[in-house]
Amino acid sequence: MTATASVERTTHEVVPDAAWRDEVRRLAEQRNAVILAHNYQVPEIQDVADHTGDSLALSRIAAESDASTIVFCGVHFMAETAKILSPHKTVLIPDARAGCSLADSIDAEQLRAWKAEHPGAVVVSYVNTTAEVKAETDICCTSSNAVDVVRAIPAEQEILFCPDQFLGAHVRRETGRENLHVWAGECHVHAGINGPELAERAAANPDADLFIHPECGCATSALYLAGEGTVPAERVKILSTGGMLTAARATRARSVLVATEVGMLHQLRKAAPDVDFRAVNDRASCRFMKMITPGALLRSLREGVDEVHVDPEIAERARGAVRRMIEIGNPGGGE
Ligand code: 13P
Ligand code: SF4
Repeated sequence: MTATASVERTTHEVVPDAAWRDEVRRLAEQRNAVILAHNYQVPEIQDVADHTGDSLALSRIAAESDASTIVFCGVHFMAETAKILSPHKTVLIPDARAGCSLADSIDAEQLRAWKAEHPGAVVVSYVNTTAEVKAETDICCTSSNAVDVVRAIPAEQEILFCPDQFLGAHVRRETGRENLHVWAGECHVHAGINGPELAERAAANPDADLFIHPECGCATSALYLAGEGTVPAERVKILSTGGMLTAARATRARSVLVATEVGMLHQLRKAAPDVDFRAVNDRASCRFMKMITPGALLRSLREGVDEVHVDPEIAERARGAVRRMIEIGNPGGGE
């Protein structure tokens, strides 16, 4: 994988006003570009995009889009996944430095060594991985369809699940599979949303629903709170970011505590304006997602940067695993 970063970067910040918005839309049309934004992007980017959604929804849209250019406002592995699915399209990310600490927690060499210890095991990798790791993978998943993906694999089949330990624990709990080995990786943002913090917030807001992303360090504690009756079980929901939007539209609660990256609050508040959504941890902001600034998006559309390239041989090997991922599970938010 390589990405060509432009040498000159916007040094002054751009004000995301109506003129900015018009210029972004004009340039996108001129380039025949579709703008995709993840739910963790800043509100202005979410609002100017053609589609805002979770990882699975955006992968599906990228695969189906007729546009010749995809501008991916998210992190690098997401843009790379779009390039794997659409090798003939131009894929741009407004700032190629937008990485992911979870994707960095396993590389292809480590995965090959793990596979060698478990010959014949099926490898399920979270989409938050590099193209090289996907090339060593049998089937990818996102948080919206990880349980469905694992359920689709025969029960006697040994599985290696990487790289997120909290999502892996959630999948093991949901499927009851003992033969699922989990890599000990984590996302620094979600791992930092911890159990004691959640318990304290839940005690202070006894009527609130809890929406918990399965990458969170507090996911196990949330189920413990439900199990011991501190919070009624039907109020605790472990959900992908797309699943949170569906649950937001359906909830009867007046307030919801949200355990995920804080960018998510914008879409939730739009989906259910009468509900009071609050972050369990309001410092849970992903600095990589926030590298995609209004100025960076403008520069990307003006200059055609940063272009994402994936080695064709790696992309070819990764494509089957990514295609299997987009075929399984319910549509995520944004589709
Ligand atoms: P989803 O959008 O699949 O819930 O993923 C969350 C995430 O952490 C992406 O980086
Ligand atoms: Fe990666 Fe975590 Fe940021 Fe998501 S929130 S992009 S998993 S570092």
